[in-house]
Amino acid sequence: MTDTDATGLEQAVRTALGSLDLERKVRLLTGAAMFALAEEPAIGLPPLTFSDGPTGVRGSEFTGGEQVVMFPSATVAASTWSEEALEALGDTLALEALRQGVDVVLGPTVNLHRTPLGGRLFEAYSEDPLLSGRLAAAYVRGMQRRGVGASLKHFVANEAETERHDVDSVVPPDALRELYLLPYEICVADASPWTVMAAYNAVNGVPATEHGELLNGVLKDEWGYDGLVMSDWFATRRTEEPATGGLDLVMPGPQGPWGEALVAAVRAGRVAESVVDDHVTRVLRLASRVGAWHPTPGAARVAAGDVEGPASPARREQLRAAAAAGATVLTGSAVVGPADAFTPDAPLVLVGRHAVRTTLQGGGSAQVWPPHRVDVEDGLRAALADGALVVVDGVEVRERAEAAGADVLRDPETGAPGLRATSFGADGSELASEVLADPRVVLGFGPGPHSGARWLELAATVHVDDAHGVEVGVIGAGRWTLTHQGTEHTAEVVLPTDDPGAGILTPPSWSTAVAGQGDATLVARVEPTGTSPCLYALVARPAPRRTADVVAEAVEQARGRRAVVVVGLTDEQETEAADKTTLALPGDQDELVRAVAAVAASTTVVVNAATPVLLPWLDDVAGVVVVGLPGQEGGDAVADVLLGVREATGRLVTTWPARDGAGPAWETVPTGGRLVYAEGTAVGYRGWYGAAEPPAFWLGHGLGWSTWAYESARVEPDGAVAVRVRNTGARTAREVVQVYLDPVGAPVRLVGWAVAADVAPGEHRDVVVRPDPRVLRTWDTAAGRWRPLPAGGELLVARGLGDVRLRVPRVA
Ligand code: BGC
Repeated sequence: MTDTDATGLEQAVRTALGSLDLERKVRLLTGAAMFALAEEPAIGLPPLTFSDGPTGVRGSEFTGGEQVVMFPSATVAASTWSEEALEALGDTLALEALRQGVDVVLGPTVNLHRTPLGGRLFEAYSEDPLLSGRLAAAYVRGMQRRGVGASLKHFVANEAETERHDVDSVVPPDALRELYLLPYEICVADASPWTVMAAYNAVNGVPATEHGELLNGVLKDEWGYDGLVMSDWFATRRTEEPATGGLDLVMPGPQGPWGEALVAAVRAGRVAESVVDDHVTRVLRLASRVGAWHPTPGAARVAAGDVEGPASPARREQLRAAAAAGATVLTGSAVVGPADAFTPDAPLVLVGRHAVRTTLQGGGSAQVWPPHRVDVEDGLRAALADGALVVVDGVEVRERAEAAGADVLRDPETGAPGLRATSFGADGSELASEVLADPRVVLGFGPGPHSGARWLELAATVHVDDAHGVEVGVIGAGRWTLTHQGTEHTAEVVLPTDDPGAGILTPPSWSTAVAGQGDATLVARVEPTGTSPCLYALVARPAPRRTADVVAEAVEQARGRRAVVVVGLTDEQETEAADKTTLALPGDQDELVRAVAAVAASTTVVVNAATPVLLPWLDDVAGVVVVGLPGQEGGDAVADVLLGVREATGRLVTTWPARDGAGPAWETVPTGGRLVYAEGTAVGYRGWYGAAEPPAFWLGHGLGWSTWAYESARVEPDGAVAVRVRNTGARTAREVVQVYLDPVGAPVRLVGWAVAADVAPGEHRDVVVRPDPRVLRTWDTAAGRWRPLPAGGELLVARGLGDVRLRVPRVA
């Protein structure tokens, strides 16, 4: 098929609309499968393929698809404050998509970090709308340049997960415009994402999938958006309201509330056929843009076979550098010394469950199956001489057990790595039996060898380092019989929530400690219960140890030596479908840090979490570095940062509270189905600024390798701010120069930033920050329109609002 220009495309769309009857047009407006659209041979339209998501291109299977690149989480990428880095990320995601024949990647997520308790913050960029919007636009540009579509999600006011399918986000109009809609507005204007995803929640009483005022009024009419609006998965519940409200595509399918019901609504005159035609036009425009139908010219597509594999040396180096670049130093230094400072006589002592089992990605639909994982322990072992690293596993950090991986499971029949899954029908006959290298099975989620299963059997030979005993168990809702070395256990595992996605996203588990020596055979048989899709897997891991024993071992090893403690969250907290209830580190991690800090020569803490946590021992340690959820090469990146090989150049993308409950917005639990955004426009640092109790760390904070003098700031006649910074430290380093406006009668806000990279010691760099006009407005609710901010106010040149270096009057 040859490329089609705009006029040619319009003509092709008109011809297609003219040749399809109503039923055929409506068929194109609901997915044909979980992640695919319908084809229409009559007009030469092939099926389009979608895939999650922001952390990697998973493909169309939730488990067991291809091994793909697991990128650092969105917060790590955002912490670079680098549009260049986000553009490169979008580019690589597009290559991952092309490698798998995926047309649209379901990202980026631009919901804001409104409250630090939000479970899904790791997938989104920031509490600041300008930073979120500009970084998202860069990601979309990088991706779409390759002919792969992005999906800006979840439109809009989807800042928490509790009761997410029904919650009504009650947002004042000025906050909606100035904060929550702004990243979408910026991204639409600057990068034209080819799709937008309408959220699960309602906004001010109207479901986001049928919000005519926002979808038709703001997005399509006011912003001139010509792309496609799809629903979040299973979010559409009605027929006419979404169709007339601006939703173009119901996902997934083939079942759904449109189909025949929409045909009938058109026939009865309740929905105009021109509305259907507009939706179909947008589907066809998307097909053209991704090159599947009358290709839009200009995309730099590459053949699948020419794309680097997810474990190629080039990809590994790129991911390692990206993870280090987004690491953020909160206090002191992240550097514990060069690698050769550690020897068998003077080893580095590495402590913590997150050191041996690093949380590399968050939970939920963003999860991917990577080619390998590099934990912090692996990274440091590779970098240090033999015997120069002593590792102490930490206290327990999880409540729900994690699925056992192919590293500890073998097929009992062939010995191949993984799990044998066998399914049986209602009459007891065997349906399918296979060895799964990704040892997780999802039932009830699309077709597959086990889709008709009445019983499922999971069998494996497990090998767990059992010095402290072994814990075995099962994951997934149902009635289980688990046989371990001939001993039978039974369990009824129930899904505690009716969220339709929870069985896959946060599956329940059951486990028990058993005595065990060497290899053991584990056979688990389940009769699935519940009506929603669910994930099934085995648990096999060292039994949890008593905190006192772990602490005693850590203290013994760390005494008088240099120590690194890795603490953090897991995909139990950093996940879709659930919010946090506290910012305290899970388990007894604080106790472990305190004990080590009390005896070690120096203690550096690595925080393996995407979002704020409480650091009650902050004054007792030499340095704290946040590494987020760093992706498949995370451990190597952390080793680079700790050993001074790469600078941790990140700056916080969210303000960190000093205690639970502190901050302008906190609650994620709706009252009577309503989550009221009562803080209005005073979100994040905007709300903290001027408050009596300061936060622990401000958005924009981050120390890196050097110190900086801010020598001058000057406002040019056109409003641009010229800043001179000088590297006053001893190493070449990178600085993020931030400019905030403290306006008259409105909240303080970030208006722009600039990066000064590779500045040598003693050298200066001149940067120019152009305040973005889209944050120099205020929404006049009464008039329903934008007004310029009142004249005056002060520009603050800062390293986060806790470290304002220069102040200059605004010229306006
Ligand atoms: C999530 C979306 C995701 C979709 C498809 C939903 O549960 O909210 O972000 O793209 O599932 O997996």
